[in-house]
Amino acid sequence: MFDMLEYRVFADVPEAPQTEPQRQLFFAELCHREVEKLTTQLGHAPVAVTQTLGCQMNARDSEKINGIFKTAGFVLGTDEEKADYVIYNTCTVRENANLKVYGRLGYLHSLKNHKPHLKIALCGCMMQEPQVIEKIRESYSFVNLIFGTHNIYKFAELLYLSLTEKKQVIDIWEGTDQIVEDLPIDRKYAFKSGVNIMFGCDNFCSYCIVPYVRGRERSRLPEDIIHEIEGLVADGVVEVMLLGQNVNSYGKGLKEKIDFAGLLRRIEQIDGLRRIRFMTSHPKDLSDDVIAVMAASKKICRQLHLPFQAGSTNILKKMRRQYTKEQYLALVDRVKAAIPDISLSTDIMVGFPEESEEDFQDTLDVVRKVGFDHAFTFIYSKRSNTPAAANKNQVPEDVVKNRFERLLHEVQQRSRSGAARLTGVTAEVLVEELNLKMNGYVTGRLDNNMVVHFPGGEELIGRFCRVSLDECKGFYFIGERVADE
Ligand code: 5AD
Ligand code: SF4
Repeated sequence: MFDMLEYRVFADVPEAPQTEPQRQLFFAELCHREVEKLTTQLGHAPVAVTQTLGCQMNARDSEKINGIFKTAGFVLGTDEEKADYVIYNTCTVRENANLKVYGRLGYLHSLKNHKPHLKIALCGCMMQEPQVIEKIRESYSFVNLIFGTHNIYKFAELLYLSLTEKKQVIDIWEGTDQIVEDLPIDRKYAFKSGVNIMFGCDNFCSYCIVPYVRGRERSRLPEDIIHEIEGLVADGVVEVMLLGQNVNSYGKGLKEKIDFAGLLRRIEQIDGLRRIRFMTSHPKDLSDDVIAVMAASKKICRQLHLPFQAGSTNILKKMRRQYTKEQYLALVDRVKAAIPDISLSTDIMVGFPEESEEDFQDTLDVVRKVGFDHAFTFIYSKRSNTPAAANKNQVPEDVVKNRFERLLHEVQQRSRSGAARLTGVTAEVLVEELNLKMNGYVTGRLDNNMVVHFPGGEELIGRFCRVSLDECKGFYFIGERVADE
């Protein structure tokens, strides 16, 4: 466990409300006044750029950050060169993610040398690591604001401090049991949205830093989730992605007796909502009840992300995953029997300490037996303070690379042939955006999450279209719109 350092700061404004979300809305208003001053100085409204690294949780958090920026009067942009405020929402699940941030900081420093008023902020998972905070304090004093994952709801207050203080503002909490509702959110897509249902993770897989940086599991109240989704639907959203580190353990610790299956049943009832997705599912917690709800549902997508990480029971035990290879395969069989058209995706790791060639063969065996439509493949990355990092038997780099190549080859072959089964079928596509590479085409997704490109214009964005899936290009389809029924 980390020896966490806590930094807590509060803006010294006596008239600020003590309760949330009122306090943050109050600070958003104060930020607005600062932004007006900046607008006069700069001759234009200041531009805020939020860069998101990492998972869907971070993507949703960035929408919350953008909601505050917008309420405060910033214009949202994407080009750091034109930014007056840049924030990096960081990830730390693998070491590469951290290295990327340090690389970007060098670049941001040079930008700031040309544009001294530029504000730079860092937030997210990487900021929950004490050694990172030490390093930034020592070597990156030009960073204006640093905060973590537990206090993101306080962004309006922190933004105000960073706009008014000269010194570096740091606010990092070791944990929280607080969930603040009803803050403004700026959605990336008008027609689909992530919805947090729970935060944190209590599993402590031996390689994973997430439980240390995202804290203990906390579920949102079902009525708050339903209220949020109803509001989204009223605002044009037709598809939601329910988000949690481990959605299948939803409901633990709530007064009301409700589990993930129960929550899904209630969300299914929401009129106007067309598609429900969720991630991530832990195989040890995916109940037969959830499978039954999925099978009976008209709205839950035929898609399941079910990370298996490694095929060898021996390695799974060392990873503390709490299932065996056989249990995983049996679970997949139950899912396929109940939902024959299910599309499965997964996360796989190679090079976990002590992984032998035989262990690796078990991973390939699972890939062959399951036939995933999509797999995210990772090389094991040693994360400081996790139990696996202390294991002396790390696998040599060249062996890991070789296994990774072989895994990638296997995975790609399988998903290509899996996708081809849909060739010639006519299916419903939710159009997401204009295709920037193919002029006159739009891009959307099938219920099973597969990407489809077909001729069409901007007016189709956010609409469901019936499309014949004419040509399978491996991981995506080229199609043609057919008349709606
Ligand atoms: N090294 C490599 N991959 C990791 N993941 C989590 N921790 C590590 C690590 N230390 C992968 C797992 C997880 C996904 C989100 O990231 O496969 O499911
Ligand atoms: Fe990490 Fe395991 Fe929790 Fe997933 S379930 S976030 S891999 S500890």
